Amino acid sequence: MARRQARGRALQGLDTTDFGRFRTYAYGDARPEVPVASVTVPDGPPGDAAKGRALFVSRARGPCTGCHLVPGADVWPAGNVGPDLSTVGDRGLTDGYLYQLVFDPRPIFPKTVMPPWGATGVLTPGEVRDVVAYLQTLKGPRPAETDPERDPATRRRPVGFGDNLDATNNPGVLLADQAEAEWSTKGPADRACADCHVGPPELAMKGVAARYPRHVASQGRVMSVEDWLTVHGPETTGAAYLAESEANLRMTVLIKMASNGLPVAIDTTSPEGRAALARGRASFERRVGQRNHACADCHTPDGGANHFLGGRMLADVREGLTRHFPTWRTSQSELWDLRKRFQWCMTPLGANMLAADAVEYAELELYLTSFDVGKPMSVPGIRH
Ligand code: HEC
Ligand code: HEC
Ligand code: HEC
Repeated sequence: MARRQARGRALQGLDTTDFGRFRTYAYGDARPEVPVASVTVPDGPPGDAAKGRALFVSRARGPCTGCHLVPGADVWPAGNVGPDLSTVGDRGLTDGYLYQLVFDPRPIFPKTVMPPWGATGVLTPGEVRDVVAYLQTLKGPRPAETDPERDPATRRRPVGFGDNLDATNNPGVLLADQAEAEWSTKGPADRACADCHVGPPELAMKGVAARYPRHVASQGRVMSVEDWLTVHGPETTGAAYLAESEANLRMTVLIKMASNGLPVAIDTTSPEGRAALARGRASFERRVGQRNHACADCHTPDGGANHFLGGRMLADVREGLTRHFPTWRTSQSELWDLRKRFQWCMTPLGANMLAADAVEYAELELYLTSFDVGKPMSVPGIRH
């Protein structure tokens, strides 16, 4: 199968840098993760603590504050995936230890979720030295906290968004109305979905989406509802349902809503299902990109799940993260399917994306969906 690397041009605000130097999710990409670097402080002038602080708080470089709190009203919103570093300078850690830790923490913490900033070239050796100089200035006593929202330990936990199936609350619901009209509209091949699928979509498609992603024998691969439509639409009505297009998204919502309330029931026991699940799991745990991150780093309890990454509370994969997708994102005023979410999660991490309908993503989705089995579908969701 042709394997295309596509940048998600349709996504707003996405970085267009080419991260081709770093490994991706492509099954054909046999490169290892960024090699572990054991280093010592290089000779040269001492570090500049002021520059180090600027690097520490910079969102564009090592976004250290995404995981660590330090003093300063400008440090907002800091996360707590890593320890509070407000007084790390009091711990008597040597410059050599801190230099190694920031350059590449893996020799010290082999399973850490902290990226190897020096080993990947995000920070130069001189910049790592500046960051170390800054860390050594962080001495107690801690300044009194003036804003409980600044500190992730005292920040309020996010609350929900109300009834996701109420159209006055979730604009995503309205898209299904549009798709309902399309359901009985003839496409270029002079056929409509309704010509072959008898009854209104909520009956014709009842329970279908709860079985997706599934291995589709005729295609020889795992497919989500979205993936299936990219092939099935052109073959039947003649209409295009390109991955991540509006038409695909709308029809997916309509089909998935017909399973609302029904338990997710994907196949994880057939030989194909089991093999795909294992590959999906391997992708979930695979470290990719310039930050050498795995999905597991942020979405499992061994990683950052249930902690703040910056201002965001990280979801725990074990809760099941798929049964409300496509989901309306209040922060983007857009409905997103799961692939867009995957691609978005990878964007800040410095990895080239795969095409939205890549089999690698389909199997990753299958693995994620395995945690939703038995839980009721509720589409479209609504989230920040
Ligand atoms: C994705 C989250 C994440 C980011 C981003 C991150 N760290 Fe960390 N950091 C951690 C975790 C987790 C630990 C605790 C070590 C462990 O158990 O993995 C840690 C530990 C540390 C420690 C303490 C080490 C010790 O021995 O107590 C320092 C210092 C540190 N990080 C500095 C930095 C700096 C500087 C940056 C930015 C260049 C940074 N971190 C970015 C997650 C992160
Ligand atoms: C020419 C007849 C025909 C038309 C038109 C048609 N379909 Fe289908 N559809 C089928 C058949 C036959 C199957 C089962 C085929 C298979 O599983 O390979 C199917 C399967 C499906 C499935 C998967 C069902 C499952 O249980 O996995 C979905 C979803 C679907 N169609 C949606 C649509 C939508 C949406 C349209 C309109 C864009 C449409 N179909 C148009 C004949 C048609
Ligand atoms: C550096 C951390 C980070 C990594 C790595 C990461 N994500 Fe995320 N992810 C987030 C943040 C932040 C959010 C938004 C808050 C939340 O819902 O967890 C999020 C949200 C999600 C959601 C939506 C959860 C929901 O309930 O709506 C899914 C699904 C998801 N991520 C999947 C993935 C997958 C798959 C990967 C690997 C390809 C991945 N993430 C890698 C940070 C990360």
